[in-house]
Amino acid sequence: MSEDPALKRLDSLAPLGGTIGAARAERAERKAFVRDLFDRVAPRYDLMNDLMSFGLHRLWKRAAVLAAASAPGVEEGTVIDLAGGTGDLALALRHRLPHARIILADASPGMVSVAKERAKGGFECIVAEAEDLPFGSGSAEAVMLSFGLRNMTDPPQALREVARILKPDGHLILLEFSKPSAWFAPFYDLFSRFAIPALGAAVSGNRGAYRYLVESIRLFPDADSITRELQAAGFADVTVRRFMFGVAALHVAEARA
Ligand SMILES: C[S@@+](CC[C@H](N)C(=O)[O-])C[C@H]1O[C@@H](n2cnc3c(N)ncnc32)[C@H](O)[C@@H]1O
Repeated sequence: MSEDPALKRLDSLAPLGGTIGAARAERAERKAFVRDLFDRVAPRYDLMNDLMSFGLHRLWKRAAVLAAASAPGVEEGTVIDLAGGTGDLALALRHRLPHARIILADASPGMVSVAKERAKGGFECIVAEAEDLPFGSGSAEAVMLSFGLRNMTDPPQALREVARILKPDGHLILLEFSKPSAWFAPFYDLFSRFAIPALGAAVSGNRGAYRYLVESIRLFPDADSITRELQAAGFADVTVRRFMFGVAALHVAEARA
């Protein structure tokens, strides 16, 4: 199978902001495309996640929630679920941290409206851009960022914003797709190239949206590159845990005191 040169995996985050999948794009175009995409898939987003990952995203997210719940000071502190989407993680955080303030922030009004229904008042929901967050410096004990960084308009700026709003020693819990190990990559490639857009077309009526998701996954830098990006954005003590032969990676990083 020939490799599309426009889909070569990036070794840093900055160029991602100039793409919409395999195509080059201005930042404003990317921002509008991503916002519109998530607004449109919001009603079917949870079902699609289960189908596309065979439910595995639930296990990965469970590990992310456990990591967030063990960050220092979170029990009675503030946890932001950034790019929180339809709120499955925010709800899990609510159950695990009954006394914490949980705030879901997401750029898509469509996703936030699904999250609000799910929250039933149990967590706060706001529409906000990760690159310019409406939170004070040093105001959160932990930030959860699950499958969101890949879609941001300016991913390095989003990481700097997260570093700004975290308290010294606060934790970022970053879950994202990553680079599968070499032996597994051909199988994963076939599945993601053909099955995911077809599932997207069947379930959400939106093949294009899921083609973008697959392409953005293929472009996203590997786990070691993300570790370097986190360090450059002002984080220390970065740890990585890989899931399913590297298909997804969980980074936990501490804001520098
Ligand atoms: C793949 S979904 C992830 C949702 C949820 N966190 C999860 O793990 O299922 C990506 C989310 O990122 C949000 N997003 C994209 N760009 C954003 C930005 N610049 N600021 C905040 N949220 C953004 C989208 O609206 C969408 O809800």
